[in-house]
Amino acid sequence: MQNSVFFKSVINSNSIFDSMGLLGHFLKETIGCEHICLFLMEDSQRQEPAAYTYNMLQVDTNQLQQLAVEADFFERIPDGRPLRQDDKIDGISLEKTSFHTIYPFHIKRNSTYGTLLLCFQTQRSLTPEELQICRINKLHMDQLIDKIYFRKQFLKEQSYESLFNTLRMKDSFTVDHCYNVAFYSLLLGEKIGLSPSELELLKVAALLHDIGKLAIPDHILMKPGRLTDEEFGVIRQHPAIGYELLKDLPEVQDILPIVRWHHERIDGRGYPDGLKGDEIPFLVRIVSLADAFDAMTSTRVYRSSLHVDEVRKQLITNANTQFDEQLVNLFLDIIDEQMTMRTLTLGE
Ligand SMILES: [Fe+2]
Repeated sequence: MQNSVFFKSVINSNSIFDSMGLLGHFLKETIGCEHICLFLMEDSQRQEPAAYTYNMLQVDTNQLQQLAVEADFFERIPDGRPLRQDDKIDGISLEKTSFHTIYPFHIKRNSTYGTLLLCFQTQRSLTPEELQICRINKLHMDQLIDKIYFRKQFLKEQSYESLFNTLRMKDSFTVDHCYNVAFYSLLLGEKIGLSPSELELLKVAALLHDIGKLAIPDHILMKPGRLTDEEFGVIRQHPAIGYELLKDLPEVQDILPIVRWHHERIDGRGYPDGLKGDEIPFLVRIVSLADAFDAMTSTRVYRSSLHVDEVRKQLITNANTQFDEQLVNLFLDIIDEQMTMRTLTLGE
């Protein structure tokens, strides 16, 4: 399996459970690691780590979980340093497990922390290149945890949660899309160096950008196939409908341009108002690009997601017509950072 498949799964997935399967499969093929285990804890629940495993017997999971808590792997075993069965480090021993070598990689994201354990049933020393594979995959896992944390926080904090929940009841696919658009918009916004208040505005706007789809009939919104011109005309009304829906709510005035104009294009061929170039505000351009990226990398009923290389090509082709060229270049840098592993390890 190519690494891009795992990378893509992290982009598309919102589930650690699903991604562990792909990660395990990938690590088995690349470094011969047959068993992996991820323990995650919240600061508030240090004694009860959640366990996510790949090809791991329950008895081993239980032993490792006990070790991880009692011996506090996170604090005491350095990241990437192998722990071996004959090691006795301050009472930490693998004797009760079926593993000879375990490589821990630690995770700390906001209030979530934990350890990804790569377990081998024989003596094993990873080469520097193999360690690099593990580290980069751990970074992908970090990114997935960020996404999940981001969802939880949003639901806790925001007063317009009920509006968003209404959209969820109607169309969970659009809700997933909105979360992803917010996530990519923030990656881009952080790269540009936007202020915390601009990032907050970007986040809320991206989450609510498609809220107008609430008014689109289900048989069009969920149609399993290509839309007719007439149906597409109805879908195209959603930015203006979203604007109408929110325009009288005092707390969301700042996000109205993004809701209304996220389908505008630099060349003026977008909708609903046909704005051109600088007429489209900067934050709107960020969300437009994130929106298109998620559309290209997600699976639709009538087509599978595009390969990352194809997505790159599409972004470059449409720079300065559909998208802001400078933003496209920055976004390509972000994609390259995520894809580092391909060039480092697989020579694809
Ligand atoms: Fe939209």
